[in-house]
Amino acid sequence: MCTRYTRFGGPQMRPDVPEQRKLVLVMVGLPARGKTYTARKLARYLNWRGHSTRVFNVGNYRRRDVGAQKPASFFDPRNVEGLEARRRVAMRALDELLSWLDEGGLVAIYDATNSTRSRRDLVRGRVEAAGHRVVFIESVCNDAAVVEDNIRSTKLRSPDYAGVEADKAVADFRERIAFYERAYEPVDDAELSWVKIVDLGRQVVVNRIQGYLPARLVYFLMNLHTGERRIWLTRHGQSMDNVAGKLGGDSSISPLGQQYAARLAEFMRERAGDEKVPVWTSTLQRTIQTAAGLHLPSVAWRALDEIDAGICEGLTYAEFDGRFPDDFASRKADKLRFRYPRGESYQDVVRRVEPVLIEIERQRRPLLVVAHQAVLRALYGYFLDKDPVAVPHLEVPLHMVIELTPHAYGATERRFELGPRVGSEPSWNAAASS
Ligand code: SIN
Repeated sequence: MCTRYTRFGGPQMRPDVPEQRKLVLVMVGLPARGKTYTARKLARYLNWRGHSTRVFNVGNYRRRDVGAQKPASFFDPRNVEGLEARRRVAMRALDELLSWLDEGGLVAIYDATNSTRSRRDLVRGRVEAAGHRVVFIESVCNDAAVVEDNIRSTKLRSPDYAGVEADKAVADFRERIAFYERAYEPVDDAELSWVKIVDLGRQVVVNRIQGYLPARLVYFLMNLHTGERRIWLTRHGQSMDNVAGKLGGDSSISPLGQQYAARLAEFMRERAGDEKVPVWTSTLQRTIQTAAGLHLPSVAWRALDEIDAGICEGLTYAEFDGRFPDDFASRKADKLRFRYPRGESYQDVVRRVEPVLIEIERQRRPLLVVAHQAVLRALYGYFLDKDPVAVPHLEVPLHMVIELTPHAYGATERRFELGPRVGSEPSWNAAASS
């Protein structure tokens, strides 16, 4: 039986072909080493690419089944009762993970310490017996300051320490880590597939990584960092084709678009001061013209060009409906998968902007992206963890800047409406200018 490899099409998954079995990513690492951060980032990236992915966090199962506020001694490997309780919740999480894959999930992430060889063998045995393949992702961090920061910024907010005074909670968590350290065995089996991320990506070691998707994951992991910076997303100023209600094209910006470009330059001076914020545009005139007055270093990416509307380029929305009513109806029924004849679909756009997305992840400095509605919807959908089906409908109006500040578990967002308002736009803006 074949299973779809992606949620929205693409190659088929063939369980008889080793590289195409469903994937279980098994996290490994001491507590407070960024495993949950990495697991959630991977899930967001994979879901965005269209691979249905879910994280199964064993700590959550333990909190649900045996209670949140367990003292450090519960995690002592000599505590026979604690050991058995932890084994039970770990297996329950694994049962649910395997059932979820049976029900159609494609990539499951098993987020737990998995700190001993015997536990990893047990997990791998069960996953492989179910016909799936395993890649271990070990997070190693020996920088005491980073671990301390992680304890204070995430663990103190955990239900495990609700109502516990901060210093007591930190001391208890350190004791918990020490218990795990006693039993910890690093991943080093040359026969297995694994990725080892050392000190937040300073070094990434890879062993027996085969297949398209695992290779993409390694590339993604190599570019992650936890530093905070702002990312501004904006569409170009109104273009002459916008005024005419035409799809696609490469027209110049209108007088209203020029006003927006001037406002954008003021906005960037206010928000970024003297910082020479890099600006990424598409290769189309309307984005380059919008960015010209910023006097900031700029790069034009072909991958940021607007969705290619194929045979509908240059048509108005009404002309598209009149000339190609079947395509028009297909697009309305499924905007994510609809591909303009001889053009692109939103899925195509997601794949096309992926290299830009990874470059954005890699950047440590603030960044301004001046682009188009469809590509910005795709980028915004990633940062805000939107369901792929919702992406083609996300609100990214003209003459507005979206400021994103990515953080460990998502991004915070602020919207600045700079005007001039083009709220009375014809229907092309809502329905056709994707
Ligand atoms: C936990 O119970 O918080 C984590 C269990 C584990 O992964 O070892």
